[in-house]
Amino acid sequence: MELIAIASDHAGRELKEYLLAFLAERALDVVDMGTDNDASVDYPDYGIPLAEKVSSGEIKRGILVCGTGVGMSILANKFKGVRAALVSDTFTARMSREHNDSNIIVIGGRVTGKDLAVDIVKSWLVTPFEGGRHQRRLDKIKSLEEGWK
Ligand code: RB5
Repeated sequence: MELIAIASDHAGRELKEYLLAFLAERALDVVDMGTDNDASVDYPDYGIPLAEKVSSGEIKRGILVCGTGVGMSILANKFKGVRAALVSDTFTARMSREHNDSNIIVIGGRVTGKDLAVDIVKSWLVTPFEGGRHQRRLDKIKSLEEGWK
């Protein structure tokens, strides 16, 4: 498994730490991009650097956590090549890989329980993209991005 990155704001930090412990147990190579304490921060300050790394290809996949996951997913999907999926169940996590080739998973730390979040991440990490007709659909999104200034 390639290197992955994880980041959160204060509202997602506890879940981020829990996910980090799970990922470390599995000996997965993870870059922790903060935040590292409970002080209130602005989620874009942590989400943008991670989304930039995924957009540039420096990192293939990332995990973002904020309170609901909404702010992080809005910002991540502003980046070319980023397909961020806000997920609160395992089925959607799997489908976001099979059908959407999601490269960032976003979870709400105030929404999703810790063990469910681990299950979501586990499933998301191992599920491959199916390609085929789904690639054709992603190509249409890619064409849309080509027009971005
Ligand atoms: C922080 O209070 C909260 O607004 C943030 O974590 C996130 O839920 C935004 O979408």
